[in-house]
Amino acid sequence: MPARVLSGMRSTGKLHLGHYHGVLANWLRLQEEYECFFFVADWHALTTDYAEPGKIRENAVEMTIDWLSVGIDPRKATVFRQSFVKAHAELFVLLSMITPLSWLERNPTYKEQLQEIRDKDLHTFGFLGYPVLQTADIIIYRAEKVPVGIDQAPHLELSREIARRFNHFYGEVFPEPQTILTSQPRVLGTDGRKMSKSYNNAIFLSDPPDAVERKMLHMMTDTARKRRSDPGNPDVCPLFITFHLLYSDEPTIQWVREGCTGALIGCTECKRSVIPRVLAMLEPVRKRRAEFEKDPGGVEAILEEGSMKAREAAEATMAEARKAIGLETSRGARPGR
Ligand code: TRP
Ligand code: SF4
Repeated sequence: MPARVLSGMRSTGKLHLGHYHGVLANWLRLQEEYECFFFVADWHALTTDYAEPGKIRENAVEMTIDWLSVGIDPRKATVFRQSFVKAHAELFVLLSMITPLSWLERNPTYKEQLQEIRDKDLHTFGFLGYPVLQTADIIIYRAEKVPVGIDQAPHLELSREIARRFNHFYGEVFPEPQTILTSQPRVLGTDGRKMSKSYNNAIFLSDPPDAVERKMLHMMTDTARKRRSDPGNPDVCPLFITFHLLYSDEPTIQWVREGCTGALIGCTECKRSVIPRVLAMLEPVRKRRAEFEKDPGGVEAILEEGSMKAREAAEATMAEARKAIGLETSRGARPGR
């Protein structure tokens, strides 16, 4: 049996190239090798967006279309929606009984986000408990491997501690999930900062080719290079760091390095040499998207079917977790439906 891999993404809107290179490219590799579960973390989206839940369903479908368009394949991976598998919430309750408050309060991600996100009130029980729900998401599938970026590493550490504590009190039910630290190339946005929807600097997977081209032509370059006759430095140029390094072949990269440092090429020419490669990567994505967009019901059906499979796997673990604690399943309740 291949190892079980699980990962999720908060559904907060459409995905961009940062998500592609940082997360989805890894998922595409993993789905070929492992038994993968990928899910739309719509409850986790609620921890920050509880005051405006209007777009939950739309965002869930939108994000699933992004995944499917890049090649996440529901025949290979189980693709589902968190809120369709109620057992996550049941396990969350059980785990919340044994999770010391101090573990949650000292979580660096928590402290950071309270500082950073100012436009929403995040002093809620749900937001503090974010990593507990995340732990339930993971261990309910007995996932051995969880691919995440470095920013999620503290959460995963907590998940291991919580799983260990459960096993300590009630017996070995959950394996401790291992983090797979996925490679996270630097994907910079058009203004040179990290690509992010909230910075308004993103190139989206759903952008049409002319928008991609326009954004790239406007993208920041080495700011010290004011005129074409000024030599530039590719190593500080956002366009180079993100696009040439990720999309160009070696000879082109060499050509840019020499042309830029020697002031032999202009930035527009340099950009034009990589734009076609970005468009070529996005072309099949665009084609697949067009198919899925014609049939949003089909996408919802994929989530339904994936959630059914997920429920089965989750229920099997929950039966053991309940038994370990001494909780029975009432015959009247049909858990997980
Ligand atoms: N916290 C993750 C993020 O913000 C999303 C997530 C929720 C997740 N549950 C998970 C990731 C379980 C991995 C495993 O991206
Ligand atoms: Fe960047 Fe290319 Fe311009 Fe150099 S020539 S600053 S690498 S865009």
